[in-house]
Amino acid sequence: MNQKNDPEPTAEAVPIQGFEEAVTDDEASKDWQPVSDRVIRVGIAGYGVCNFGAAFRFQDHPNVTVAAVAELDPDKRAELARACRCATAYASCEELIEDDSLEAVFVATDAPSHARLAIAALKAGKHVASAVPAVWGSLEDADALFAAAKTADRSYMMFETSYFHEDLYNMRELYRSGALGKVLYAEGEYWHYFPTPLAAHEGWRTGAPPQWYPTHSNAYYVGVTGGSFTEVSCMGVPSSIDHLKAANNRYGNPFGTEIALFRTSDGGMARMGVSWDTPGVGGETGRIRTEKGTFYGTFQHDGQDSVPTFKRPPLPPGVDAGGHGGSHGYLMCEFVEAILLDRTPLIDVAQSLNMTVSGIVAHESALKDGELLKIPQYSL
Ligand SMILES: NC(=O)c1ccc[n+]([C@@H]2O[C@H](COP(=O)([O-])OP(=O)(O)OC[C@H]3O[C@@H](n4cnc5c(N)ncnc54)[C@H](O)[C@@H]3O)[C@@H](O)[C@H]2O)c1
Repeated sequence: MNQKNDPEPTAEAVPIQGFEEAVTDDEASKDWQPVSDRVIRVGIAGYGVCNFGAAFRFQDHPNVTVAAVAELDPDKRAELARACRCATAYASCEELIEDDSLEAVFVATDAPSHARLAIAALKAGKHVASAVPAVWGSLEDADALFAAAKTADRSYMMFETSYFHEDLYNMRELYRSGALGKVLYAEGEYWHYFPTPLAAHEGWRTGAPPQWYPTHSNAYYVGVTGGSFTEVSCMGVPSSIDHLKAANNRYGNPFGTEIALFRTSDGGMARMGVSWDTPGVGGETGRIRTEKGTFYGTFQHDGQDSVPTFKRPPLPPGVDAGGHGGSHGYLMCEFVEAILLDRTPLIDVAQSLNMTVSGIVAHESALKDGELLKIPQYSL
């Protein structure tokens, strides 16, 4: 019933989960019209275990030139430059940000560096796209990122892949059309079994608190309604897996599974789970129950069970939808179009932080045995 979307890669990495290509849709670029003939010079940083820098197809968009790339690792730097057909390669994102010829930067580095690099790029006058999550476990970084994005008068967008899963896309369109009414209950989950930590820059994934990586699941409410979570009670289960024991990781995190119950900004509720230590079916999935119907892969309402027919927007010729439920190309195109049309991108800094910060507070609640905690709110 429920779409099983591809989670991130496992240690085995054969094939790399999450990065399987979506089924090719020959019609995907039908009716695509350019909104401008301007070409944006984009810089891309980060080509780690997920090869994320090239995965969103900036290099294939007719309104984009990937004018520079950056990687700390020289071999990966060369690979990223090759993948993006780019002649200019910097040794770090910090150096790339200094390049005045660039208009936008995609930060695809390790999660702990996102906030710092995004803030630096915004301060240097660049539009910023960031891989998830927006910040890594720090409420102070969240406030600093919000302030930088507001002051900079530049676009900031977090590339949360669930937003362009086919089911979530349909939920959002139905919600916007008024067909759903109020969302009474949403649930989402990111299940990804990590018996051993996945390779990552300076080991940032080792023992990571599950709810510090909350955006894939939280998108199944925030990405539908544009709302936020106002308070949370979260429970964690102490893990029997070595890297998920508090003494064995830099986060002092004892949990491999954290389940959060949120109050939503429109008075409903949401149950959002993230788990690293439960083998079995994985995925980035969700569903909603509203006052007018229920969306469980299909939309059930008024005695009917229908498959909504909203189609994701056309992609430019040559741009593939890519991995994670065929979401990559759509996220990149949304970011580029927002710059070209000088409008706010779909996943603006407020939504990005409302999705991310709620998870940070959820983890804090789990450490306090489920204490109900208020969540800071961001709105533009
Ligand atoms: N579905 C999704 O949205 C999804 C899936 C996978 C990964 N991600 C995100 O993508 C990002 C990358 O993931 P990964 O697994 O490749 O991470 P990783 O830790 O393997 O790689 C990070 C890379 O960034 C490089 N780097 C770090 N600091 C840098 C700097 N200052 N300048 C230039 N390069 C720098 C490192 O050398 C490393 O190669 C992560 O933030 C992750 O959370 C999101």
